[in-house]
Order: sequence, then C-alpha cells, then structure tokens
Amino acid sequence: MAPRHFIDICDFSASDLKALIALARGLKEGTREVDTLAPATVLALMFDKPSTRTRVSFDIAMRQLGGQTIVMNSAETQLGRGETIADTAQVLSRYLNVIMLRTGPHSNITELAEHASIPVINGLTEESHPCQVMADVLTFEESVGSIEGRTVAWIGDGNNVANSWIHAAVRFGFTLNIACPEELSPQDSLLEWAGNEGGSVIVTQDPKDAASGADCLVTDVWVSMGDKDAEKRKQLLAPYRVDETLMGLASQEAVFMHCLPAHRGDEVTAGVIDGPQSVVFDEAENRLHAQKAILAWCLGLTE
Ligand code: CP
Ligand code: NVA
Repeated sequence: MAPRHFIDICDFSASDLKALIALARGLKEGTREVDTLAPATVLALMFDKPSTRTRVSFDIAMRQLGGQTIVMNSAETQLGRGETIADTAQVLSRYLNVIMLRTGPHSNITELAEHASIPVINGLTEESHPCQVMADVLTFEESVGSIEGRTVAWIGDGNNVANSWIHAAVRFGFTLNIACPEELSPQDSLLEWAGNEGGSVIVTQDPKDAASGADCLVTDVWVSMGDKDAEKRKQLLAPYRVDETLMGLASQEAVFMHCLPAHRGDEVTAGVIDGPQSVVFDEAENRLHAQKAILAWCLGLTE
C-alpha cells in the first residue's frame, strides 16, 4: 500500500480535510479517541531550518499517541555532506515509521516522499506550511464557527503560509482576500489553480479593501527564513502592518491570527496581537491537536 503522505492541503478532498479537522477537535475536546501506537513507532523530525512550535508540538503529539521521536538537524546528517535525498529516504524507511521534514526547496519534500516507503509530512517549505493552516482552520472554527462561506483576509507577504491559505480557501470553501505589494504576490500559477478549482481568492494592493467586513485578519513575518532582501521587504510591507484601525474595519467578531514567531511593531502592532481579538496562542496550541490527527491518519489509526 502506498504510504499516506501529508504534503499539501490541495492534495486532499474537502471531505478528507474536514474529517481531519473534526478528529483534531475531537481529540482536543476528549470526545474522540484513536488506538494507541505501539511504543516502537518512531517519528523522525528533520530540520533544515529553525523551529520552536513545529518541533515541540510534533514531538508531544507523537508521545501522546504512544510513539516516540528522533529529532535531527539535517546538516548534521550525511545529507549535509551530499548524500542524496533518495538514498536517505530509502535508508530511513528501514528504521522509522514516519518522517516530518522542514526544508527550503519544496522539491526536497516531494523527492523524500517519492522515495520513502513510510509517510512523509511537510513541516514547512519555501512554498507551503500545511500543518500550520490546518491548525488555523481548527482555531477559526473553534472561535468563530464553520469557516465555509466566511471571509479571511491575509495582509502582508504572499509567502509559504499564504500559499497554504490559498489551498485551504479552495478546499474548505471560504473567500480569501490577499492584500500584498505586487512584488510579493503569490505566484500566478497558484492563483490560476485557485480560479480553475472554483475558489474565491482575491488579490489587492489595498489592505483596507481586504480587511473590510472580514471574519479574520491573518498575517506573518515580513522576512521569512531564507529571505535575503530584508530591508527591501520591510519597505514594501510597511503599509501592510495590521493595526487597530485595520482590525476595526473587520467584522466585530473577527479574530486576529499569526502563525508566530511575531515581530511586534513590524507586521502587527502589540495592541492587536496582545488584544482581545487575538487567538495566536490558540493557534499555537492547535498545532498539537491538528498534527495528532494528521499523524493518526498517516499511521493508519483512522480509516
Ligand atoms: N509557526 C511555526 O511553524 O513556528 P516554528 O517556526 O516555531 O515551528
Ligand atoms: N513564513 C515564515 C513562517 C514561519 C513559521 C517562514 O517561512 O519563516
């Protein structure tokens, strides 16, 4: 049987994604259970880039399911000395049960998945961050209600997290307004995909337009891991700071989201991120619950 990889939200049907969110919520609320993993079931967490939330939430999720983890800095493995991803995938498949990789080029994760005979999970690439946005959808639904038919406004860099929000908008059926400088817009090919799939993804340069009446404002750092042009990005993105005025344009019940880490005073004011509409720490907690559901699916604990 082909391994159950979790690479991108767009790879799944709406009903499969909704089932994962329902499982995550049930596991969190104690209304759903999955079988306990055999103790020798091991997840490897491989990092080419730093992490706080992804590392700890996956580690704890696996332990709570009954399994164990190994954390590896890829640079300290033979990958750092040029061993191929294909060989690494085949070797690790002989020892482990599941691998999570955080890396730069998206092709690294697809190559790992292609050659591994065990499930591979995307823990962030330059192109996407699907586990984050699954946790974000769970957070939205807990705090606001069903996300279907709602409006989410992404304000800032059209980056990897924004791309996964585009995938989610199409599959979960909500409108995504993206306000970003033209230079930092998501790729045309992704926007075309969203249109072809019948999604409602609107790109504007005006943050006020995007925020007006939205049920959620979401942003992210102006300089992602690996970005080299920090000063230019900060200049381009300065008009896209989420502040109290912008938040005031959203619906009264709107929530503020940020995947963290955050830079107060850059992409968001302290008043918004530390204010009453912010759900950023629920998002961080929900990484644990969403990833537990993803691991349960990958490891065959669900249908
Ligand atoms: N949001 C997120 O992925 O955080 P880390 O970089 O700390 O894992
Ligand atoms: N866009 C950010 C997300 C960090 C979790 C980055 O890639 O650095």
